[in-house]
Amino acid sequence: MHPGAAVTSETLAVEVWRGAAAGRFQTFRVTRSANQTVLDVVTNIQREQDPTLAYRFACRVGMCGSCAMVVNGRPRWTCRTHVAEVAGEDRLEIAPLAHLPIVRDLVTDMSGFFDKWARAKGQFQPTKTRGDDFARVEPASAPRRAVDAAIECIGCGVCYAACDVVAWNVEYLGPAALNRAWTLVNDARDAARGERLAAVAGDAGCHACHTHESCTERCPKHLAPTASIAGLKRATVAAALRGEL
Ligand code: SF4
Ligand code: SF4
Ligand code: FES
Repeated sequence: MHPGAAVTSETLAVEVWRGAAAGRFQTFRVTRSANQTVLDVVTNIQREQDPTLAYRFACRVGMCGSCAMVVNGRPRWTCRTHVAEVAGEDRLEIAPLAHLPIVRDLVTDMSGFFDKWARAKGQFQPTKTRGDDFARVEPASAPRRAVDAAIECIGCGVCYAACDVVAWNVEYLGPAALNRAWTLVNDARDAARGERLAAVAGDAGCHACHTHESCTERCPKHLAPTASIAGLKRATVAAALRGEL
């Protein structure tokens, strides 16, 4: 069924994760409506049935990245996921994002995810001071075009929850942090390229990626972290051959 299509059953059985890691699914019934999103369903449960249900959202329009959950077994941004796309006729299972500690119900602790952005040197290091003129990046330059898509990341964690290597290797930096590193490696205004390549070249970095593309398949912004990681692999190997790592 497509968003906006006629709703064929009046209510939906919704299984929602409750508690922390040792929790369980609780079933609610929610009235269906046209154009209903998964986030609408969670909000309905919290407002109409159980105000203790914990979940996270902010923008509701696909910009903030805070509403990601596992819906019928797959990580998704819930504010832009229509029930009709994922629930079939009448069933929905909603769980917190995978590979992160559960705080409560549908809320995960994202600190480990963003710590990895810091470990991948995901912070911009300026070469200029406020006394300098604006640093201009030529839109058609090859380094800028290499990150046209990657800079649109909203930090939602969907790719991280979809990545099997994250599950096997808790140290692995993961697709989002590596995608961020790739944007900065290509930023002519940044001063920390060598330091950043060293940070992503280790055992937990880009070479741990198995290139099976779950991150790219699941990214709701249609970005390609796998391609960014492939770029880091090339850049780190080239730096090593030059004796810079
Ligand atoms: S391509 Fe790499 S980062 Fe993406 S899901 Fe696969 S192993 Fe993880
Ligand atoms: S790469 Fe895509 S899935 Fe991963 S955090 Fe960024 S927007 Fe979300
Ligand atoms: S609530 Fe902001 S991306 Fe979904």
